Amino acid sequence: MYLLIPAAGSGKRMGSEWQRQGKAQRNKLLLDLIGKPVLAWTLLAAEASSTIEWIGIMGQPIDFDDFNQILADLNLRKPVTLIQGGSTRQESVYNGLQALPTEAQHVLIHDGARCLATPELFDRCSASLKQYDGLVAAVAVKDTIKVVDETMSIQDTPDRANLWAAQTPQGFSVPLLKQSHDEGKAKGWEVTDDAALFERCGLPVYIVPGEETNLKVTTPVDLAIAQFILQGRTQ
Ligand code: CTP
Ligand code: MG
Repeated sequence: MYLLIPAAGSGKRMGSEWQRQGKAQRNKLLLDLIGKPVLAWTLLAAEASSTIEWIGIMGQPIDFDDFNQILADLNLRKPVTLIQGGSTRQESVYNGLQALPTEAQHVLIHDGARCLATPELFDRCSASLKQYDGLVAAVAVKDTIKVVDETMSIQDTPDRANLWAAQTPQGFSVPLLKQSHDEGKAKGWEVTDDAALFERCGLPVYIVPGEETNLKVTTPVDLAIAQFILQGRTQ
């Protein structure tokens, strides 16, 4: 299985954590999480997966020296390619798709910022691609979700039983995902995950069980929670 890791963001919502760690703000994937950068934990899970065979990381060139250092420290058995990311996550994945080896039939996309995903989750998603051309790891929503208008007046309370919180990995047939990204680009669709492009093209996307601990490290509190969970795993 081929894996693309979007890692080309700048981590704006993590701002104050850099001050706390006494450093100038950078890509949040370079922040320290119990002795390793956030991205290193994501890569270790991919390395431990029994299905992932090739890893592409989309990054900003300014981060490539740091990414290469992480790769040198981890010394992974699996081949890793660095790919230039874009100015949005959508563009970064688009670039990643262009850089896939031509023989790639299926691909998993997994955010570098979801550093707690387990190898088993990668393998569950890989296995489900035998059945589906589009899938998303997701968990049932625990909160009651409100839909509001611009005045913050609540317009709707969707039935929670139908609501799932999308995570990554998300897995797809390569030709179909390329087609949906091309269509999204041509039509100017702006989306926050790849499944949304698939959906807009009318292609079916299925949910596979995600992991409650598979949070996306977005704000400083997420980093604190990630630290707590990882410490529990390594004890
Ligand atoms: N990402 C990317 N290319 C971009 C923007 C984001 O590859 N131009 C990646 C991030 O590196 C991250 C994932 O997409 O692994 C999810 O994005 P997000 O959590 O929003 O990360 P950032 O964009 O870095 O954070 P922020 O939105 O707070 O600036
Ligand atoms: Mg972002």
